[in-house]
Amino acid sequence: MHNSETKEMMEENRQGEALVIEREGIGKKMYIESYGCQMNFSDSEIVASILQKEGYGTTKNVDEADLVLLNTCSIRDKAEQTVRKRLTNFNKMKRNNPGMKIGVLGCMAERLKDKLLDEEKLVDMVVGPDAYRDLPNLVKELDEGRKAVNVLLSKEETYADVSPVRLGQNGVSAFVSITRGCDNMCTFCVVPFTRGRERSRNPQTILEECIDLAENGYKEITLLGQNVDSFLWYGGGLKKDFEKASDAAKASAVDFAMLLRMVAEAVPGMRIRFSTSNPQDMSDDVLYAIAEYDNICNYIHLPVQSGSSRILKLMNRGHNREEYMGLVDRIKKIIPGCGISHDLITGFPTETEEDHQETLSLMDYVGYDFGYMFYYSERPNTYAERKMEDDIPLEVKKRRLNDIIVKQQALSLANNKKHLGKVVEVLIEGSSKKSDSDWYGRTDFNTVAVFPKGDEKLGDFVKVKIEDCTTATLMGKRIN
Ligand code: SAH
Ligand code: F3S
Repeated sequence: MHNSETKEMMEENRQGEALVIEREGIGKKMYIESYGCQMNFSDSEIVASILQKEGYGTTKNVDEADLVLLNTCSIRDKAEQTVRKRLTNFNKMKRNNPGMKIGVLGCMAERLKDKLLDEEKLVDMVVGPDAYRDLPNLVKELDEGRKAVNVLLSKEETYADVSPVRLGQNGVSAFVSITRGCDNMCTFCVVPFTRGRERSRNPQTILEECIDLAENGYKEITLLGQNVDSFLWYGGGLKKDFEKASDAAKASAVDFAMLLRMVAEAVPGMRIRFSTSNPQDMSDDVLYAIAEYDNICNYIHLPVQSGSSRILKLMNRGHNREEYMGLVDRIKKIIPGCGISHDLITGFPTETEEDHQETLSLMDYVGYDFGYMFYYSERPNTYAERKMEDDIPLEVKKRRLNDIIVKQQALSLANNKKHLGKVVEVLIEGSSKKSDSDWYGRTDFNTVAVFPKGDEKLGDFVKVKIEDCTTATLMGKRIN
């Protein structure tokens, strides 16, 4: 596959998929598109819930919308460019529909603040990821003809008590946020600036949300956070202040492994997944929890970013190559057959050909099932932007990206071939995009599987015998 095409495809998967949703309301209508990480998609469900109480229904037709919202991503420059193009389009539409208001939510709102309102005059409302509770006041300001902005970050906000309006259309899989923000400060990453300090959500409200999903027929929950392994609840408060907590609070603290077990027991018929794991924070106890419970999926998304310890240090990752390999060894030992995926960045400042080769050899060592691959995009205000020169030429970044994509395709195919002739359990999530006569679903280890439709229905768990595969998909037939 051509280099830039492959890159486009990867970007599409991760951040180009806008989710457009529709729900009944009583008065006005909002149209919402979400970009970027799963957390943004989950946040849009919080936003829809808060605005629904204000009488806003949702529409898939932007022409009839009173309020157009874009939940945005700042992770790479290209993500921001996509949103800017969308905003320009919406502004053109506004000429035919002057009553329409445009709001930017999420990371770009946080990063660009008033710039979008004042300098560029592209939007009427700017709301950062911790300010959605203020939406009722903000839309009131819009109604009164003023521009509205709230980009305050919070140390407490987890929207714990907001019951999300489920916008995912299949009614099978749902996201449940468990932490917000990130304290890791990887030197390339804008997230700690746009989403603020890391904080954990009250586990009781997490369990309630999971049970509610089970009662409503959902079959799969993905627990979400920028760094789920670092989950720590001790009655509220930031993780960094844990040492100052009372003995009683410490004694009743809940960490991620405990939370996983609590969720697994609360909703025994559901698949439980989680994302994202940070290698430095992933404890063996989490691995044992996965191994202990059948309903916790044998799959770990474990971003590595680079296979070179020198680059990992410059990235301020909390792990080096050997530590990461050690963790992978333990995963394979404790959870045999566990699916493992990665995030990787090529062309970080000073990356040499040797560093790049180390990334390729690490990929071989782990034998990843799949991954999300990017070339380095310098982000304003990050440590790397302030202190390092973005010195790897674009064509080198892209060539290395192509190398790792080609490597990953070979690894994915080899992994998929191992399942030929075997029987896997698939949760049916919808019709295959390629053929309406096939079902689409995923295995426990998170590989896509398709098979011809019979009398099963959406949300069923079925056994499928694998007969063929591509790099991305297992193909088979249902067995009884
Ligand atoms: N912990 C987070 C990571 C968020 S960013 C999570 O929940 O997934 C997702 C991925 O984008 C990162 O793992 C990294 O591989 C990539 N990324 C982040 N900043 C980047 C940058 N400046 N340039 C290129 N890729 C970047
Ligand atoms: Fe970003 Fe590193 Fe946190 S990639 S989201 S700073 S773990």
